[in-house]
Amino acid sequence: MSKILYENFKDYFRVGAAISGIILMNDVEREELFQKRKAWFEEFKKNFKPQPGMPEFKFTEPEPFPKGDMIEKQLAATQFNLVVAENECKMGNIYRGPDQFDFTGPDRLLKFARENNQDMRWHTLVWHQQSPKWIFDDGNGGKASKEQLEERLKHYIMTVGERYKNDICSVDVVNECISDKNFVLRDGADRSQWFDILGPDYVDKTFFWAKEAFPNSSLVINDYNLEMFEGKRMGMYNFVKGMLERGVPVDTIGLQMHINIQNPPVSEIEKTIELYASLGLKVIVTEMDISAYVDKDFEHPDPRREYDQAFLNEQADRYAQVFDCFKRYAKQGILKDVLLWGITDRMTWKNNFPAPGRTDAPLLFDTEGKPKPAFDKLLEL
Ligand code: XIL
Repeated sequence: MSKILYENFKDYFRVGAAISGIILMNDVEREELFQKRKAWFEEFKKNFKPQPGMPEFKFTEPEPFPKGDMIEKQLAATQFNLVVAENECKMGNIYRGPDQFDFTGPDRLLKFARENNQDMRWHTLVWHQQSPKWIFDDGNGGKASKEQLEERLKHYIMTVGERYKNDICSVDVVNECISDKNFVLRDGADRSQWFDILGPDYVDKTFFWAKEAFPNSSLVINDYNLEMFEGKRMGMYNFVKGMLERGVPVDTIGLQMHINIQNPPVSEIEKTIELYASLGLKVIVTEMDISAYVDKDFEHPDPRREYDQAFLNEQADRYAQVFDCFKRYAKQGILKDVLLWGITDRMTWKNNFPAPGRTDAPLLFDTEGKPKPAFDKLLEL
């Protein structure tokens, strides 16, 4: 039996991981980033005003990064046959000004992927977070006009496509556009400046531009909690059904799959995949992790727990059950890729989120890069 994760699933789906740009940097670049972070953090602390009623924020000081090759890099190179940038392909990190692009991050990941014979996805073209501030401004202290913003967005998508269209197998065209409040398109009141300025047809337009820019890539609409809550699942279903009726070139729904040790049951994941397949679409799992915390209420997150053997075994069983479900839908030609959102527990985005000061343990490798029981169990599937 092979000890390589992706090889174990090669007859079913590609197994990918989100790669933090930090692991691809050299020591000098990492030190520069650390200094920048320290400065941001000091600024943040200076300006921080606690909101009445919000839980107390426990500051976690940025720490210097390890030197030399990090274990995550070796695991990324050997265990996965698909990669995606955890942050480096988001607009805010690339689009510096009206005609200013910084492709350092995406280029670095593409080079890594090529060296290791891996495919690469793009995350993401449009999102209500991590967009550059300037793009929504008219340059005179007011909001950009609809025409201005459309022009800027189209220029961005075309420029990215021009550079990467032959290297990217699938693109998260629009990320997290369904609202958790009413399960329709997230609007300006729910933090989408894209909707606010461009209006409700911005998603359709973005997909048409993406099709022009990436004619050979699969085009994905990506969101969270689709497997968790029926309301949101149906909201996405209805929205995408409308897109298809309007002839919009969406071909895949991305389930982020940030799930936890209890929820949702596998039966809900099955329902979700079947529902979207009934639209004739493919499904991929874009950002999987299994949190140790159930966090029913984000305002009052669960207290820190021990990641003891009992937890690790429970998590292993849960990973195995969910991957087993993925295998069944892969066999039917519905499910194409499964990506984890990170590699080791020391570098997961769930450390400090949603509970500042609390670590989590949602991935397949522990804080030292050692395989967890979940990894071993997946290799037995
Ligand atoms: C997260 C990254 O993991 C963090 O490093 C960053 O600070 C914030 O964004 N859903 C998404 C991802 O679509 O882009 C998010 O990534 C995690 C949730």
